[in-house]
Order: sequence, then structure tokens, then C-alpha cells
Amino acid sequence: MHRTVLVSGGAGFIGSAVIRELVDLSWVGVVNVDKLTYAGNLESLSSMASDSRYTFVHADICDAATMRDVFQTYHPDVVMHLAAESHVDRSIDGPAAFIETNIVGTYTLLEAARVYWQNLKESDPEKAKRFRFHHVSTDEVYGDLHGGEDLFTETTPYAPSSPYSASKASSDHLVRAWQRTYGLPTLITNCSNNYGPYHFPEKLVPLMILNARAGKSLPVYGNGQQVRDWLYVEDHARALIKVATEGEVGETYNIGGHNEVTNLEVVERVCELLEELAPDKPDGVKHYRDLITFVADRPGHDLRYAIDASKIERELGWVPRETFDTGLRKTVQWYLDNGDWVERVTSGAYRDWVEKHYGGQGVGGANHG
Ligand code: NAD
Ligand code: DAU
Repeated sequence: MHRTVLVSGGAGFIGSAVIRELVDLSWVGVVNVDKLTYAGNLESLSSMASDSRYTFVHADICDAATMRDVFQTYHPDVVMHLAAESHVDRSIDGPAAFIETNIVGTYTLLEAARVYWQNLKESDPEKAKRFRFHHVSTDEVYGDLHGGEDLFTETTPYAPSSPYSASKASSDHLVRAWQRTYGLPTLITNCSNNYGPYHFPEKLVPLMILNARAGKSLPVYGNGQQVRDWLYVEDHARALIKVATEGEVGETYNIGGHNEVTNLEVVERVCELLEELAPDKPDGVKHYRDLITFVADRPGHDLRYAIDASKIERELGWVPRETFDTGLRKTVQWYLDNGDWVERVTSGAYRDWVEKHYGGQGVGGANHG
């Protein structure tokens, strides 16, 4: 049976991976609703351009009238809501956009979905029964862990630290309220740090690859001992599709890669891979790791994230395919092979941010904060 999946934020890092995965399913049509902020790049979906089952709608999820039109026009069976402001450092510098898109935008999309679904119950009860609203969230809503053994489970209390994570926590609460109060068939996933191809180079992994190749410093915040649980983006995309199509309404699923690594170790592993895959170093660079520079810490920096993914593994049979070693090797190679994509997405706006955040030293200078 043909199903229409409405993806919000499909031009972003994870959304584009979800769409590339979805169009491989013969029974799916995809409508991608994206505002194309600095983080949204249709270049990441160029393989979709001539696919008749793919439609792009350039729109802001905060625009209520347009969101109502989108639902009326495309009649989705499933919504996968990924549109968000996603970068913690930007949320510290300017929280307003995070409140607007992540909270008001989620509310606006929920309301459009609710009106559509309520009408559907009259006009097409079978389709209304199938309808799902899947909200894609983050492990950062749980705050951070300080013991080495603890893991975030689906019942860990919320304790967000940054404007970004607080805005995502708010959006999760709205989604649960729309399920409980109105019966809207929602699902929520909370995932750990993703990495992989098409990752905007403001985030740790791509920033380090590109800085190292340019002979620029590799800015590690604080002592670099913070721990993240890394998941290859295609593994996340497969998990999201499983939850959206097979998950239980009203449930939350944590998604993670069982790959806890300190930030310093991530940067060191990137350097080692570059030594092997790109031995022709920039002038004056003897070893990539010599570029590592410890800079001022991120305010409110979370110490450790680690996910207990046993529920999604047990109930939906999802397991990650990549280890951190295999995924990171693929990622480094992808950036080495795709300089054109990097060139096109690093616009003037990107350069202005890097200038402001890292202080005057091109892509990733030495001074943070
Ligand atoms: P991203 O920043 O790469 O992409 C966000 C996309 O949303 C962009 O295409 C952007 O243009 C679009 N967008 C932003 N504001 C919009 C608006 N008002 N209306 C319509 N579109 C808008 O983000 P990502 O890393 O792909 O993350 C996607 C989702 O997954 C987010 O909700 C994020 O919180 C969540 N998440 C991310 C990670 C991660 O490691 N990147 C981990 C867990 C959860
Ligand atoms: O945990 C899931 C979250 O992972 C997602 O919800 C966010 O959208 C996503 O951006 C990511 O958040 P992080 O803050 O963990 O990712 P980031 O790549 O910005 O940073 C990873 C770690 O590396 C973090 O501890 C900060 C550190 N860091 C980051 C940058 C950009 C550095 O030490 N130096 C840097 O230059």
C-alpha cells in the first residue's frame, strides 16, 4: 500500500539521511517540509531531484496557515518531525531561534496534525487509525551523567542544561500532552550524538576533519574528557523509520550506538584516520594531532551522555550496523571525497558564525567563548 511520509527538516543532516533511506522503500512517497536555514541544504538530496515520489515544500513549521495547507494538500499517513535548531553553541549565543522553531514550531505542527487527523477520523477512519506523528528528539533532554555506569533510559527524569536541550525537552512535553489530551497518535525518540556524511561542519566530527585538512587548530573544549555516545547517522535513520512504522503509539524509544568516547579521543581518532587516508598534510603540519588546542569550555557543558537502547532493540529488533571505528572511517573518507559539498554549504553565514564563535582564525580558530 502506498504511504505518504511528511518529513520536517528533511534538508538537514539526519532528515536527509531519513529521506535517502525512505525512497528506497517502494511503497513510500516523501514530502519534505524545510525552511532551508543555514543548516538545510538541498545539495544533500541531489539524488532525489528527479524522483517522482519526492516533493519539496519550502516552508517554516512556525507558519500555521501553510502547515494546515501542507496537510490538506498531501494527506500524509506519517509525520516524521525533525525540523529544529540543533547546535548547542548557537543556542547559547542566541536562544530565540531555538524557542521559536523547537517549541513554537513543534506546537504549530502538532496543531496542524491534530486538525487534519480529527477530520480524517470522519472522512477516512482507516487512514486515521494508521496516522502517526513521530517526534525526533535528543538524549540531551535528560541532562548529563556523572557516574561511569549509569545510562539514560526512557524513564530518566528530564534535566536539560542548555537552551537547545531545554527547548527540545519542552517540545517533547508538548508532544506527550497532545497524545494524552487529544489522543493524537504520537511517538518520541531520544537519540545520542550522530555522525556521518552530510554533517554540517559546525559539529565536532566534521569540524575536526576539515580543520585538520586545512592545517587549522582543532579546538577541544575544556579538558576534552566529556563523553558522548556516537551513532552513525544511517543507523539512526533506520531506527527512526522502524519507530515511525512499527512503534507503539504513546511510547518513547531511546536510540544509541553503544559507542562511548571522550571528545579528545574522537579528535585523536580523526587525526589517526587522516594520517592513513590523507598523508599529504598541509604545509608546516608534521602530525595532524599537533593541531589539537585546548580552548575555553562550553558554558554548562554536559559531562557524559550514554544511552540504554535495549527497549528499541528488544521491541523493534533494531541494532546499529556500524561500530565507531567502521563509521568514523567511512565518515572521514566521505569528507575527503566530497570537498564540493563542503564548499557549497559553507556559505558566508557559516563563515560569519565561525568567525564570531572561534575568533578570527578561519574555520575553527583557537579561542572559544
Ligand atoms: P540540522 O540542524 O542538520 O537540520 C535541521 C533542519 O531543520 C535543517 O534542514 C533546517 O533548514 C530545518 N529547519 C530549521 N528550522 C526550521 C523551521 N522553522 N521550519 C522548517 N524547517 C526548519 O539538524 P539534525 O542534526 O539533522 O537534527 C535533526 C533532528 O534530530 C533535530 O530535531 C535534533 O534535535 C534531533 N537530534 C539530532 C542529533 C544529532 O546528533 N545531530 C541527535 C539526536 C537528535
Ligand atoms: O546528544 C545529541 C546531540 O548531539 C544533538 O541533540 C545535537 O543536536 C547535536 O548537535 C549533538 O550535540 P553536542 O553538543 O554533543 O554536539 P557537538 O558536535 O556540538 O559537540 C560534541 C562534543 O564536542 C561536545 O561535548 C562539545 C565538544 N566540542 C564541540 C565543538 C564544536 C569541542 O570540544 N570542540 C568543538 O569545536
